[in-house]
Amino acid sequence: MGNIVYRDVRDAGELWEVMDVMKDAWGMEDYTEAVPPHIMWAIMHNGGLLKVAEEDGRVVGFVLGFTGRDERHGLYHYSHMVGVRRSHRGRGIALRLKLEQRKWAINNGYSLVIWTYDPHQGLNARFNFGKLGVINREFYPNYYGEMRDSINRGLPSDRFRVEWWIQSPRVEMRIGGRDRPPSFDEVKDLVYMPVTTRLKGSLRVVEDVKLATRDELVLVEFPGDINLLRENDLREALRWKLELRKVFSYYIDRGYIVVEHIPLRENGERRNFYLLWRTGINPLLRGDYPWR
Ligand SMILES: CC(C)(COP(=O)(O)OP(=O)(O)OC[C@H]1O[C@@H](n2cnc3c(N)ncnc32)[C@H](O)[C@@H]1OP(=O)(O)O)[C@@H](O)C(=O)NCCC(=O)NCCS
Repeated sequence: MGNIVYRDVRDAGELWEVMDVMKDAWGMEDYTEAVPPHIMWAIMHNGGLLKVAEEDGRVVGFVLGFTGRDERHGLYHYSHMVGVRRSHRGRGIALRLKLEQRKWAINNGYSLVIWTYDPHQGLNARFNFGKLGVINREFYPNYYGEMRDSINRGLPSDRFRVEWWIQSPRVEMRIGGRDRPPSFDEVKDLVYMPVTTRLKGSLRVVEDVKLATRDELVLVEFPGDINLLRENDLREALRWKLELRKVFSYYIDRGYIVVEHIPLRENGERRNFYLLWRTGINPLLRGDYPWR
């Protein structure tokens, strides 16, 4: 394993390598779903960001973002994609790329970075909430319509639109390793769980959903591995999506904020949960937690 260097793109030719990483990271069949080099070049030269991770002269990861603006937040940095070659996963490269992005965004006057991701993807949930300290107040069913890459194919493109408040104590503590998500045991007696699940063979499926708002903290189970489930039982994968649509919309409409991803290993099974808290954004960004 070589040394990884994090740096700006050197020339336009390198953008083809970035496109190759995109194709590999998302499992795209061809380049039709990738961002073309000329758009990346335009983003780089108009206030956007493209950083790459290089190993032995080869691009193995990248992060791409541009300026965004909306009614609620004013100006922010919008992070469109972060991707790492499959062969290079699990080495903390994505985390380093996000930290490079944070440094760049602070130097360029931003306090907020926003992006979307599929809330059913456990790896992304762990990465975004557990390692980076994002929060989420927005949910969009079928945000992009139909997508064809292997991560998204066959299921609606439901998305969280997460906020990464890069100068907040919450984020500083999380990326500095001075804070961690609570464990399942730490919160289990404090929460309401609207989703009940059961095992169908070796796959966990939704049994029932009961929505209620009497509790300040809500714990929502989502698939341990949606990709495996989709390969083995597309109907049940779709059912998860449709049931959790109701759950996310219901709680987010009522002022709950998604604040953590909580993983659980039980009898060799990987289970995933989101913790939702009915609170204002200020205590959250200060780093307050009701479970400690
Ligand atoms: C998302 C991505 C950038 C992360 O990079 P990475 O190097 O694989 O990430 P890491 O190795 O740092 O993190 C993997 C973590 O997820 C966990 N994980 C893996 N599968 C999981 C699952 N199904 N459920 C919960 N957690 C899971 C791992 O246990 C690991 O946690 P740990 O570090 O505590 O052990 C990379 O996987 C990627 O390029 N994916 C495709 C593109 C993408 O989804 N980009 C983000 C949206 S724009």
